[in-house]
Amino acid sequence: MPETSRVPDPALYPVPADWADKAHMDRETYEAARIAARETPDAFWAEQAKRLDWITPPTRIKDVSFNKQDFRIRWFEDGVLNVSANCIDRHLPHREDETAIIWEGDDPADSRHITFGELHAEVCRMANVLKAHGAKKGDRITLYLPMIPEAAYAMLACARIGAVHSVVFGGFSPDSLCGRIEDCGSNLVITADEGLRGGKHIPLKANVDEALTKVKVDTVLVIRRTGADVPMIEGRDFDYGLEAAKADTDCPPEPMNAEDPLFILYTSGSTGKPKGVLHTTGGYLFWAAWTHEIVFDYRPGEVFWCTADVGWVTGHSYMVYGPLANAATTLMFEGVPNYPDAGRFWQVVDKHKVEIFYTAPTALRALMREGDAPVKASSRASLRLLGTVGEPINPEAWRWYHEVVGDGRCPIVDTWWQTETGGHLITPLPGATDLKPGSATLPLPGVELQIVDAEGQPLEGAVSGNLCITDSWPGQMRTVYGDDQRFFDTYFSTYPGRYFTGDGCRRDEDGYYWITGRVDDVINVSGHRMGTAEVESALVLHDDVAEAAVVGYPHDIKGQGIYAYVTLNNGVEATEDLRKALVAHVRHEIGPIAAPDVIQWAPGLPKTRSGKIMRRILRKIAENEIGALGDTSTLADPSVVDDLVKNRAGA
Ligand code: WTA
Repeated sequence: MPETSRVPDPALYPVPADWADKAHMDRETYEAARIAARETPDAFWAEQAKRLDWITPPTRIKDVSFNKQDFRIRWFEDGVLNVSANCIDRHLPHREDETAIIWEGDDPADSRHITFGELHAEVCRMANVLKAHGAKKGDRITLYLPMIPEAAYAMLACARIGAVHSVVFGGFSPDSLCGRIEDCGSNLVITADEGLRGGKHIPLKANVDEALTKVKVDTVLVIRRTGADVPMIEGRDFDYGLEAAKADTDCPPEPMNAEDPLFILYTSGSTGKPKGVLHTTGGYLFWAAWTHEIVFDYRPGEVFWCTADVGWVTGHSYMVYGPLANAATTLMFEGVPNYPDAGRFWQVVDKHKVEIFYTAPTALRALMREGDAPVKASSRASLRLLGTVGEPINPEAWRWYHEVVGDGRCPIVDTWWQTETGGHLITPLPGATDLKPGSATLPLPGVELQIVDAEGQPLEGAVSGNLCITDSWPGQMRTVYGDDQRFFDTYFSTYPGRYFTGDGCRRDEDGYYWITGRVDDVINVSGHRMGTAEVESALVLHDDVAEAAVVGYPHDIKGQGIYAYVTLNNGVEATEDLRKALVAHVRHEIGPIAAPDVIQWAPGLPKTRSGKIMRRILRKIAENEIGALGDTSTLADPSVVDDLVKNRAGA
């Protein structure tokens, strides 16, 4: 983070009067909902859940314990529904010819409108193709796709037949893809010949082929995006277009129990390989839809644009499920913010008359650097509300967003949440919450926060500590796929009886929450989570590397950059070429987002006498806070620190 983000900003931006009058939630309804969710949760959530279309409405609403002996998280557990019917079929009587998805291609000349009627036909068609290839309720299906409408069709088609999708971000390497296919036991992969981003071709099918040299699946469906000539393996690979042409455009939605799994999404943790975060049908869909409506104050007919890739949870909850459950027009953008030029976002806003715009601080910081001109060249008159997600936003970027992008007239919702939480938990409500730049402000109804010290003692008042949540909310993840124990251990064992977020947090005198970043070994690179352990494992796989330790350091654009300390094997020379080779190696092992920004050669790493690497010291050196190294006397060999400080790489 730039230094400014650590300085609390005293300025307050009060709720504009017209918002207080017209928004879905004003201060009073928010306060009343907070109390109702706390005191009469069953009645409150039963009423709220009526927003979904249930085949059998739930009578059992909340059944939760975070304690070891009777641990369980169940919501709406006897309810029956189908997610795809909720996102499509129920809107058909009144919105069949309205636009569900606006697709904006990488090339500015390329865009399409897909109506709810068309969405229904395409999703059914894909569902029937999946069935024809043997897919059924409960199967896991891996999607490795670019930002094309078929990505949304595929997710909804899985939901329609009760299959569980696992979307793997198209920027991940063949190895990462392989690990994810293997972990959830997918037998079917949906991909595209290539992706297209910023004019560059992404070899998705080739990556799948490479992944499938190490794990076997029966079927690969290949969507033609660029028409590139890709090898097809007879009997395994099928051209989706040809399959779709044979398929019927009607497919009845499978009735699903509220607690049946909807999707798995892999995310980095502080240890080991990525975890398959599992979300279920009823609670997740409810939370995505409810938060999309109240946080963005969504009105039917408005154009909503979330810039996240479908490979991340933000793309799941706020590009696909939340908006479509609310019959929104959701914009899907294939490209990148600076192609063909740095005004692209605002050109798209004008072209499609976007009313609500939701993006990441890292994108704003990158665009801010290009100056105001590319923004000012557009009208942006359609914009009504702005949002951010993924990392703390520094007040400087917040103000630029507010003043330059929003012309001072659009409230900003800074939404704090996680893959694990399914949807927003701490966020302003534009009609109810006065804004402070850099603060995610206050918890939503039903979200019971607690700041604790290192021992787990709850802290009251204006304090800093670790952020926990003491009770469940419907959108909470239910388990780590295939590993209930890991789920419990990761989130509920550090501070017994509570969900530990992994984030540090400050609460100010007004009760506002300021997320200060991860307190575990996860770093946030451009709003994407990366486990330092994963990068380290990738580095040590290289033949020349003996040991590696990875930490985050403040980076102007990315928020945090990746700083790697690498100890080479005896006799290996530390050259510039080797440095480049190691960066390329990590890109190849995990994907470009994991590529180290800085590699420092480390003849030794600071370790305790029991051999544990002291990351605290490595973090301080990377952050260039050499004066604050703290106590190094417990190190096995304090002199290694002197060497690291002396040879610090110029991050
Ligand atoms: C961070 C993304 C501050 C936080 C939805 C969290 C944020 C992690 C914010 C989850 C925000 C997300 N302010 N920090 N508004 N939003 N974070 O799972 O550290 O990719 O724990 O989910 O991002 O990242 P994830």
